[in-house]
Amino acid sequence: MAKIQLPGLIDAHVHLREPGYTHKEDLFTGTSAALAGGVTTVLDMPNTVPSTSTPERLAEKVALAVDKAVCDVGLFVGATSSDLDAYLPAAQYACALKIYVNETFGSLRVDDLSTMHRLFRTWAERADELGGWRSEAAKGLGPIAVHAEDLMVPVCVLLSDLYDVPLHVVHVSRRSEIELIRVAKEKGSRVTCEVTPHHLFLSTEDLPRLGARGDMRPHLGTPDDVAAMWENLDVVDIFATDHAPHTLLEKASETPPPGVPGVQTMLPLLLTAVHAGRLTVEDIITRCVDAPRRVYSLPAQADTFVEVDVDAEWTVSDEAMLSRSQWTPFAGMSLRGRVERVTYLGRIVYEEGQVLAKPGSGRVLFQGRVLFQSE
Ligand code: DOR
Ligand code: ZN
Repeated sequence: MAKIQLPGLIDAHVHLREPGYTHKEDLFTGTSAALAGGVTTVLDMPNTVPSTSTPERLAEKVALAVDKAVCDVGLFVGATSSDLDAYLPAAQYACALKIYVNETFGSLRVDDLSTMHRLFRTWAERADELGGWRSEAAKGLGPIAVHAEDLMVPVCVLLSDLYDVPLHVVHVSRRSEIELIRVAKEKGSRVTCEVTPHHLFLSTEDLPRLGARGDMRPHLGTPDDVAAMWENLDVVDIFATDHAPHTLLEKASETPPPGVPGVQTMLPLLLTAVHAGRLTVEDIITRCVDAPRRVYSLPAQADTFVEVDVDAEWTVSDEAMLSRSQWTPFAGMSLRGRVERVTYLGRIVYEEGQVLAKPGSGRVLFQGRVLFQSE
């Protein structure tokens, strides 16, 4: 059995649901699932209740992460139409500003041009105050990360161009979007993007089988959209999961919320693609370690690595999932590559299916530095 060692992965897009939705996930269960998936850094999204949209809310979430996380956690601040400038005082403690410009789970949404314009402009002015875009201090502001679909992609790219603000487009899922981002990059736009495993390994053809378990935003793409993600992998900076747990009861309801868990299954899915000759291990490290670290200015993790048996064959099951939601849209898939052991900051934190780390042993990160470490 071939064993390899990888650096701890970064999942730059997870919803750990705390505060407000701890029946779905919390900072302990979500970061435990991360470790089981070989992920030692997660960046948590702001669509909680209350949403992470002011410095006070961010401080509350920091306190929760300090108590409960078992890996490195960075936090997004979410833009709202009412707390327009709230990001600025919080900026030095957040990994980036997130704007939801399309419909999704939760109440965070900014889709009018005047607010979007103001957010990009204010953000560029702030960078100027810090010494200009290329300065170290401004780098700490992080990119503006957008949930932008379809026509909203060119709108965000244009705003980024006009203000010279770095833009990160999360979960790109359509041929039209990835092809447009390719052109924008070729023309010199400061745009990066990410693709989720579910948009790489599932399509509309899986919907009859999956039902609400295959419902998320953006929706699953057609087989042609999926093919476009693979054809344009050189344009894809980051693989990130959009780990978005909801309970199975909620998924079975009349109005199932969109979203699927994913933090624990990303690495085995990608390793299976390596086995099939569709990716290289280097492709995984570039997109799950190097690029997210660069885009979000994340610190290095000393003595942190993941031991993987790349030949192990196993079948994904709901029961093996450590997320509180305890299910996965990939259940039943036969994968090659299993996480055997994870060492985080010099300690074995995951081995043989068990998380060994204590709640609160994770670090809270802010822009290139560690803000809080328990010991
Ligand atoms: O399907 C989704 N669910 N997409 C998102 O962008 C948000 C997420 C959630 O928070 O449940
Ligand atoms: Zn998301």
